[in-house]
Amino acid sequence: AFNLKNRSFLKLLDFSPKEIGFMLDLSRELKAAKYAGTEQPRLTGKNIALIFEKTSTRTRCAFEVAAHDQGAHVTYLGPSGTQIGHKESMKDTARVLGRMYDGIEYRGFGQSIVEELAEYAGVPVWNGLTDEFHPTQILADFLTMTEHSNVPLNQVSFAYLGDARNNMANSLLVGGAKMGMDVRIVGPSSLQPDAELVAQCRAIAEETGAQITITDNVAEGVAGCDFLYTDVWVSMGEGDDVWKDRIDLLKPYQINAHTMQKTGNPSCKFLHCLPAFHNRETKVGEGIFNKFGLNGLEVTEDVFESPASIVFEQAENRMHTIKAVMVATLGS
Ligand code: CP
Ligand code: NVA
Repeated sequence: AFNLKNRSFLKLLDFSPKEIGFMLDLSRELKAAKYAGTEQPRLTGKNIALIFEKTSTRTRCAFEVAAHDQGAHVTYLGPSGTQIGHKESMKDTARVLGRMYDGIEYRGFGQSIVEELAEYAGVPVWNGLTDEFHPTQILADFLTMTEHSNVPLNQVSFAYLGDARNNMANSLLVGGAKMGMDVRIVGPSSLQPDAELVAQCRAIAEETGAQITITDNVAEGVAGCDFLYTDVWVSMGEGDDVWKDRIDLLKPYQINAHTMQKTGNPSCKFLHCLPAFHNRETKVGEGIFNKFGLNGLEVTEDVFESPASIVFEQAENRMHTIKAVMVATLGS
């Protein structure tokens, strides 16, 4: 077994393929135990702080339920109501929370902030999303993929379409490279991952046998894929004024029935980290749809609601995988 005790989980680049595989195996074990009603608490008496400088449904709930299932107690620190950033630096906050808590989740802006928190807290810190990376999401995505394929991850192919410069594109690229997958990152040239990150991932791919394609060509990107993945076109922390530009740039990268067909794989599945803009049933979605005369942004309603869509299994798996991260780094 692998010993990840006292490690922080800040980005997948910090973990070996075997360590990532270990966390996925542990997720499967914990999921099976929960379903069987035989789960053993391994975080009894632990205190966990959940810092959210951005909003969340899945990540917060996943941490809270996972901690509760494992016998730990959580404190939620929301986007307002703390001193963080306004009256107190992250370095000071880290040294305070580190003396009270056994583990700290952080969702916020720059990756450097969560790195600084981990440097000074002295307890494991888990990245619940930054502008650059969303590593716990990738564990859920890969668990979901393996539940839908009869082959190991290194025989799986997937394409991510859309804003290919955001935290999801970056993390899927790193995760795919680490796990030896056939990963395609598909988006316009102005919204592709940073050259430095791509170079880093290509070097990892040489070791793992991963195949990396970065392209603006949808047909090339999706051909033969087992999974298509997309995310919102404007991420948290970006201004509302970005929407018009993004829609102009990303319209060709929408996942619709035609895109699914272009894979040539009738059993291709659809993934999305959520929340998704696929209909008018949200305030923000309706506003954007009306303003731009659209129906569906990154994904159309028919694909989102089709049998190929496994997005809610993905959402559930956030809980099992986040539990595994906490148990691996903090559990007895
Ligand atoms: N996928 C995800 O991180 O969702 P939340 O923003 O709701 O946590
Ligand atoms: N790219 C999105 C992911 C949300 C889970 C964002 O950062 O808003």
